[in-house]
Amino acid sequence: MLKPEIEDGQASLADPAFRNDVLRGFGLRPRAIPARWFYDRRGSELFEKITDLPEYYPTRTETAILRACCGDVARIAGKGRAVVEFGSGSSTKTPILLEAVDPAAYVPIDISGDFLRESSAVLANAFPALSVLPVEADFMHPIALPAQVADTPKLGFFPGSTIGNMIPHSSTDLLRAMKKSLGEGAMLLIGMDRIKDQATLEAAYDDAQGVTAAFNLNLLERINRELGATIPLDAFRHRAIWNDDRARIEMHLEATRDVTFTIEGRPFDMAAGETIHTENSHKFGARDARILLRAGGWTPVGEWTDPEGRFAVILAEAQPARLAP
Ligand code: AVI
Repeated sequence: MLKPEIEDGQASLADPAFRNDVLRGFGLRPRAIPARWFYDRRGSELFEKITDLPEYYPTRTETAILRACCGDVARIAGKGRAVVEFGSGSSTKTPILLEAVDPAAYVPIDISGDFLRESSAVLANAFPALSVLPVEADFMHPIALPAQVADTPKLGFFPGSTIGNMIPHSSTDLLRAMKKSLGEGAMLLIGMDRIKDQATLEAAYDDAQGVTAAFNLNLLERINRELGATIPLDAFRHRAIWNDDRARIEMHLEATRDVTFTIEGRPFDMAAGETIHTENSHKFGARDARILLRAGGWTPVGEWTDPEGRFAVILAEAQPARLAP
């Protein structure tokens, strides 16, 4: 049985799901820990910094596309829908959409109650006449939306190319879950990062200031802090590698020397050069993106990119399934 307490006798405050993923992940070959665990308070702050880095083009590119396309989105989708955002709203991107589509309500969904409350308060302040109805839930599964929007047509919003952080099997599951949550006739506005040259992609995930490295290494700090582990941080380095076959950037933490450490008292070792796989960030060709959406039950009806075609914002519709040859 796993020990429920850490060494000094204090009850562990760790999320049991975090503990299970870490202990299981260190037992896998190759070792792997789900990227969702990056986002403790420090990890979320570091991610905010990443979005401002000169090398990290996705955030500013998508924001510029949204500024240019949300008028068209409002014309195609029509005004007065309930906007349902998957993830806590961003203080820059979400207002662009809300201003354009004049929604009946705004429903942000997030698994983290803290982030949800903070971002909902910011948006409620910026749009005092708007009904903001936060839902604390895991949007990977179909969700019952608030009764107030039961009969209102929905516009889902999933920016940031967060879909790229899932393997294709999970991203199609997610798209189907979104369709179930939003219902027939719903639309979805989704950001998807495009495949581009390897140097640009790798620089976006391995910046000169080392912020992405700190973001990746913070996962080990979190494991040490929350699971009473003894991982020597100076024995690991950040790696960001383009996997062309899978069309994704992979982030890893690589041991720079042979190391031994404990997690909740259990011994682990890694040889120099071995890695822990911590994140995938898939990139999409124009057709790949449309096929993925169709595989998840969504029909693309509009698509906007920046002049260099670095990033795409796609509007898709949940049409009833029909057999085709
Ligand atoms: C949140 N997600 C879309 C980011 C991405 O680009 O995959 C996370 C990230 N990881 C390193 N830099 C940014």
